[in-house]
Amino acid sequence: MAASKNSFGVLMLQMMVVLGLFSLHAEGQGLKVGFYEKSCPHAEKIVFKVIKDVMAVAPSLSGPLLRMHFHDCFIRGCDGSVLLDSPTRQSEKFSPPNLSLRGFNIIDRVKVALENACPGVVSCADIVALVARDVTVVTKGPFWEVETGRRDGKVSLFSDPINPVTGLPRFTANITVLKESFALRGLSTKDLVVLSGGHTIGMSHCSSFESRLYNFTGKGDTDPTMDQNYIARLKLKCKPRDQTTLAELDPGSFKTFDDSYYKLVTKRRGLLQSDAALLNDPETRAYLDQATSHGSTFFKDFGVSMVKMGRIGVLTGSKGEVRKLCTKTN
Ligand code: HEM
Ligand SMILES: *[C@@H]1O[C@H](CO)[C@@H](O)[C@H](O)[C@H]1NC(C)=O
Ligand SMILES: *[C@@H]1O[C@H](CO)[C@@H](O)[C@H](O)[C@H]1NC(C)=O
Ligand SMILES: *[C@@H]1O[C@H](CO)[C@@H](O)[C@H](O)[C@H]1NC(C)=O
Repeated sequence: MAASKNSFGVLMLQMMVVLGLFSLHAEGQGLKVGFYEKSCPHAEKIVFKVIKDVMAVAPSLSGPLLRMHFHDCFIRGCDGSVLLDSPTRQSEKFSPPNLSLRGFNIIDRVKVALENACPGVVSCADIVALVARDVTVVTKGPFWEVETGRRDGKVSLFSDPINPVTGLPRFTANITVLKESFALRGLSTKDLVVLSGGHTIGMSHCSSFESRLYNFTGKGDTDPTMDQNYIARLKLKCKPRDQTTLAELDPGSFKTFDDSYYKLVTKRRGLLQSDAALLNDPETRAYLDQATSHGSTFFKDFGVSMVKMGRIGVLTGSKGEVRKLCTKTN
């Protein structure tokens, strides 16, 4: 019963989206490659330079900076709302799914460089999108042309990321829920499996997969779908209720954007339940094999899906504003 109520809720939401009552969907009108060509000709070079310099001294920020674009786009569209501060900690970035979101000061550093070159021109939402591409490139992943022209939103709410339907998909989400969450934003099942490949870089807190090691169904058991040897190894690193230790999402190459994430998931070594869930659908399952095969299209696909994600609910034209500081509305 609960399940059917839930899908009914999603159906209603999808209808609202279709009716335009609600704009979560990828549209992207008004975005284009090279939007700042005339107004700030060196914008993209400036972003890349800052990111390259940052990565040289703080490579572990590549994960958080890629993830930031996902968190921004999935909540209120790609409008920089994830960056807004709140003196009373009531904005998105203080909401639980933000766990380990880092690198806000890097976005600020890029913004300062851009304000020096062309004051008031480049939006924070576009900075987040460009930075996601640039950290991918610097970690040896694919390059793609980033559409720009987003404007910054003025609203950021603590409650948005934890909304059970429109919030961020949880790390315990099963394949059905993950597909619904992506579909709600105009993203396909293919986009889901392709973008999950972002977990080829970066780290996770033990708390995001602890239950798989120690208490999967509340009976002190382990997740039977996870490789038991892998569980034994992870237990050495993560003790129960550890809130601080980090584990690599893609051990062995967590600083390199490559296809090894898909190999791990296939070997039942996906770290999060949402990674393991990709084995439970014929389409995502087939992609895991494709992505690790000789003719893999993963790199090309990742750019295509990132562009699609970057169109979710964008503000363009005269909507929103171009913030002077990424942490504050003007
Ligand atoms: C499909 C749904 C997704 C779920 C449920 C999910 C969940 C998570 C969780 C729980 C973490 C670890 C956070 C922590 O404990 O510190 C994480 C990390 C990460 N996620 Fe995802 N994620 C999803 C999709 C994505 C997408 C679409 C991207 C980008 C394309 C992405 C990029 C990353 C990166 C790069 C990290 C590492 C962050 C770091 O190094 O701090 N994820 N994700
Ligand atoms: C997936 O999760 C949802 C929400 O927790 C639940 O209602 C549904 O029954 C689950 N589906 C499967 C196939 O496990
Ligand atoms: C993320 O949310 C948690 C819990 O709500 C909060 O304690 C933490 O400060 C937030 N992290 C950031 C980077 O704002
Ligand atoms: C396992 O989960 C159950 C139910 O949530 C809880 O009562 C129990 O204390 C947990 N056990 C451990 C060792 O954390």
